[in-house]
Amino acid sequence: MRVVVTGAAGFIGGHAVAALTRAGHDVLAVDAPARSLTPGRARERFAALGVPTAHVDLAEDPLDAVADADAVVHLAGRPGVRTSWGAGRAAVARDNVEATRRLLDACRDSGAKVVLASSSSVYGTAGARPSRETDPPLPASPYAESKVEVERLAAKAADAGVAVAVLRYFSVYGPGQRPDMAFHRFIEAALDGRPLPLFGDGGHLRSFTHVRDAVAATLAALTRPLPGGVVVNVGSAEPVSVLDALERIATALGVPAAVTRRPLVAGDVSRTWADPGRAAHLLGWRPTTTLDDGLADQIAWHRSLR
Ligand SMILES: NC(=O)c1ccc[n+]([C@@H]2O[C@H](COP(=O)([O-])OP(=O)(O)OC[C@H]3O[C@@H](n4cnc5c(N)ncnc54)[C@H](O)[C@@H]3O)[C@@H](O)[C@H]2O)c1
Repeated sequence: MRVVVTGAAGFIGGHAVAALTRAGHDVLAVDAPARSLTPGRARERFAALGVPTAHVDLAEDPLDAVADADAVVHLAGRPGVRTSWGAGRAAVARDNVEATRRLLDACRDSGAKVVLASSSSVYGTAGARPSRETDPPLPASPYAESKVEVERLAAKAADAGVAVAVLRYFSVYGPGQRPDMAFHRFIEAALDGRPLPLFGDGGHLRSFTHVRDAVAATLAALTRPLPGGVVVNVGSAEPVSVLDALERIATALGVPAAVTRRPLVAGDVSRTWADPGRAAHLLGWRPTTTLDDGLADQIAWHRSLR
């Protein structure tokens, strides 16, 4: 298949490009590195992908490159709850909502299949059981609201005949993780001999999901026949507290689990918890990387950068 990966200079996008290429697809990598939270890093990664690339700002440039594809894996966007407040609101409206609106319009015209990234944040704080795709959204930040809107656009596009699947990723980690994310900050601090920066008391739970598993679900969504507009959780069924993860990192690196506490940021929900039943049923997917193995993998990547 000719597959366009948007957000290819990003964390999940880079892994998706590699996995699709390994699976024998013709990949065109699309990104606008200037729109990344870390533009310098995105430029470097984009140049090193080893597949054809196209600089396309999905929110304003013509989308001809996308229109030639059999399928699009749409990972471009402005991630992160914390940076979505204040001035970040305009960025999530532009790079999540407007970019996706234009992309879905282009795919309606071309007939390309679309797999696009949503987020566990649409659920808000999970209750006493894992979140299911049928639960009502309770977005608690501008980022989460933008993903609810992205999902609404996908549902409309599906009604108009676009073969679109929406994946709700849960706290993805692994080699190449974004610098604003918790494990990246913990590991870098530990390797520097600094205390680990912890937002809140660390009691918040996350369905941490290794990027290899997230990408496996993405490829399955691309190749399997799915109901139009389907929404699927891509997350581990076993949430772990951020403090537990931090202690595992400290143990793996042989450093004390000393922390500097920072206040929790509005919109940082106290629990995400995936019910991956639909992913198992429709995608034949279940996560296979344990948290300890996945952390070892990410730690090895951080060490390789030094
Ligand atoms: N990483 C996670 O844990 C996680 C969890 C849930 C959802 N998601 C979603 O998955 C997707 C990928 O996340 P990531 O962690 O790889 O983020 P990332 O920031 O590493 O990658 C996103 C990429 O999109 C590009 N981009 C932004 N705006 C663009 C535009 N207008 N046109 C073209 N490219 C643009 C950026 O340059 C960047 O390279 C995002 O939609 C994010 O919201 C990620």
